[in-house]
Amino acid sequence: MNLLITGGLGFIGSNFIRLLLEKYPKFEIWNLDAMTYAGNPENLHDYVNHSRYHFVKGSICNYELVDYLLSEYNIEAIINFAAESHVDRSISNPDVFVDTNVKGTLTLLNAFKKYRHQVQKYVQISTDEVYGHLGFNDPAFTEKTPIHPRSPYSSSKASADMLVQAFFHTYQLPVVITRCSNNYGPYQFPEKLIPLMIRNIQADKPLPVYGDGSNVRDWIHVTDHCRGILSALEKGTPGEVYNFGGDAEVSNLNMVKYLLKALGKGEDLITFVRDRPGHDLRYAMNFEKATKELGWRPQYDFDTGMQETIKWYLEHDEWVEHCITGEYLEYYSKQYGTKLT
Ligand code: NAD
Ligand code: DAU
Repeated sequence: MNLLITGGLGFIGSNFIRLLLEKYPKFEIWNLDAMTYAGNPENLHDYVNHSRYHFVKGSICNYELVDYLLSEYNIEAIINFAAESHVDRSISNPDVFVDTNVKGTLTLLNAFKKYRHQVQKYVQISTDEVYGHLGFNDPAFTEKTPIHPRSPYSSSKASADMLVQAFFHTYQLPVVITRCSNNYGPYQFPEKLIPLMIRNIQADKPLPVYGDGSNVRDWIHVTDHCRGILSALEKGTPGEVYNFGGDAEVSNLNMVKYLLKALGKGEDLITFVRDRPGHDLRYAMNFEKATKELGWRPQYDFDTGMQETIKWYLEHDEWVEHCITGEYLEYYSKQYGTKLT
């Protein structure tokens, strides 16, 4: 099956492509990625000459390019990972989030409509953040929870989801939406909580915890998320949404303490900083529907996944250091009001 995978040089997309190239010989992949600051060719450097892998540099907002790829390579399914993905960046610069996450998704859907005779499935990679946030005692999000995004990032992802659903209802296109909680694992850009904290702990730098650190995230290993996406591609019912979660709710402060303990450092590096504006309090996913309809459930337990992940970052400090570009240093000093050297 010929797949167009967008955003495949990012964290989750590259893990997904690696999974398919290593374990599923029936897929041939075209990876369309704009190579933003988060799109790192090193994430797939082992596969550049792989016979079933083809890289195309370009944006999902470029209709002519998407049209060309669908027709030229007989694409049979589209999986859209491409996005601006960082909540903090969406707060300081929302426009690009609308461009890629909303208009880019619409561009893919328009091209999909033209090639509906050939493309059998479109999978939109969405997020639990479209549901808004939970109180500490609220039940977990289900697919029936109303959409209530609160950040520019989650609003752009929710808008994209609504367009995807509109193309199902209006044009009967076979689309599926997956919504997942916070991923951890190898190749995550170090602006995100876990790789940022690991790097700062190693360098004995302050660990910037937003607010009082009580906000809770539901952590899932990226490989479990990728397995879920594959099951949605193969078994998902058109028009449906599937939640994926890790069954591992951890407060941010406890996550930072966990990393400190694993790396053998004391807690004096923890620094409470200004809270993220509109900071979502808690996410938790109910994934019973995915278990029932797709036969999916997370396989990693939190400790095993986290220990593997920490080991990976320690063994790949060169990969991490290559992410620390001038752009990253500028972002860091604006975001945290302190220079990272
Ligand atoms: P990421 O930021 O690591 O990667 C995004 C990728 O998209 C990069 O390779 C970037 O170059 C590419 N990209 C950006 N704009 C593009 C454009 N206009 N055209 C083509 N490519 C473009 O993101 P990620 O963490 O891997 O997230 C992937 C997807 O999964 C996103 O849609 C995100 O909303 C969703 N998601 C992420 C998480 C998480 O915990 N990271 C959880 C749930 C859902
Ligand atoms: O829930 C899924 C979402 O998870 C995805 O849709 C997003 O693409 C992904 O970026 C992630 O969003 P979060 O905002 O939850 O992830 P982040 O790693 O930025 O932050 C995790 C938590 O840690 C959040 O509550 C904010 C907090 N945090 C984050 C950073 C970077 C800190 O306290 N300090 C920090 O320096």
